Amino acid sequence: MKKDLSNIKKSKLLLDKNHCVAIPTETVYGLAGNAYSDKASLKIFKLKKRPKFNPLIVHYFKLQDLIVDCEINTNFKKLYKKFCPGPLTFILKLKKTSKISKHVTNGMNTLAVRFPKHPITRKLLKSLNYPLAAPSANIYSRISPVSKLDVKDEFGKKIKFILDGGTSKIGLESTIISLVNKPRILRLGGFEISKINKVLKTKLKYSEKKNKIQVPGQLRFHYSPGIPIRLNVKKPLSDEAFILIQKRKNFDKKYFYLTKNNNLNEAGKNLYKILRKIKNLKFKKIAVEKIPNYGLGLTINDRLKRASKR
Ligand code: TXA
Ligand code: MG
Repeated sequence: MKKDLSNIKKSKLLLDKNHCVAIPTETVYGLAGNAYSDKASLKIFKLKKRPKFNPLIVHYFKLQDLIVDCEINTNFKKLYKKFCPGPLTFILKLKKTSKISKHVTNGMNTLAVRFPKHPITRKLLKSLNYPLAAPSANIYSRISPVSKLDVKDEFGKKIKFILDGGTSKIGLESTIISLVNKPRILRLGGFEISKINKVLKTKLKYSEKKNKIQVPGQLRFHYSPGIPIRLNVKKPLSDEAFILIQKRKNFDKKYFYLTKNNNLNEAGKNLYKILRKIKNLKFKKIAVEKIPNYGLGLTINDRLKRASKR
């Protein structure tokens, strides 16, 4: 606890000086910088090797901080009240008077915003007088990190400090919904769309085709461990690591299990951890068993599909 407080203080000091710090969130770790600072925002793009056209998500502590920068509407209020802080990202209209660095949005007039739930990052956000721009703390197009060690695996000593918050509880990025016009799901994530539909009384679904232009960063290939992945495999080849949804009785060194008993939330939490593990064990190829396509299974399949594209 004491250690956490001194680490939060250290992070604040670095962020105040426009440095980048990796922060824990309940979804994945983020690479954070002052969203009001051009210098800090540019550093994030450089460290991640991320193309400038791909805008960043900005993390706020509370509603009053957000309304300085964004226009809000009824749909937003409903979802905020019910689900924030949490693993949901909103696209909103930027106010003309907003202080967000133009590099964060690449000059667009909308902003992706989120209120992360992780208690350590909430304490940090509360202590700052600016919001944090933070994309996932991985090199562009690679697997998102879900622990301090994962961030180290991505960046080595290139970042000044990693604020340790244990393993991310959800392990998949936030779900993104645009509320600029009619609500639209832009990215599947760690938050089930059915819950949004209940509150907004809608029947939103995610459609990959419709999103091509809307979300510049939604690459077809992404989240990749850097080796070929084959999906819906019944029997792996001899040189493939094999990812299975549920533990089997017969043990094999190259079998990796997403869950103990078929729980898709647990599978979501373990997905990136297992992909990274397989990569670090120097396997050359991955095969994946068919994953159920409902609940968080939709997100898991979306990520695996992108990771399998080359
Ligand atoms: O869970 C998460 O969302 C994590 C944690 C750290 O908060 N962050 C994350 O950020 O996944 P990133 O940068 O890896 O993904 C953000 C996505 C990108 O695909 C980007 O193109 C999209 O959000 N995005 C950002 N601003 C946008 C905007 N104004 N309109 C549409 N899409 C936007
Ligand atoms: Mg990312």
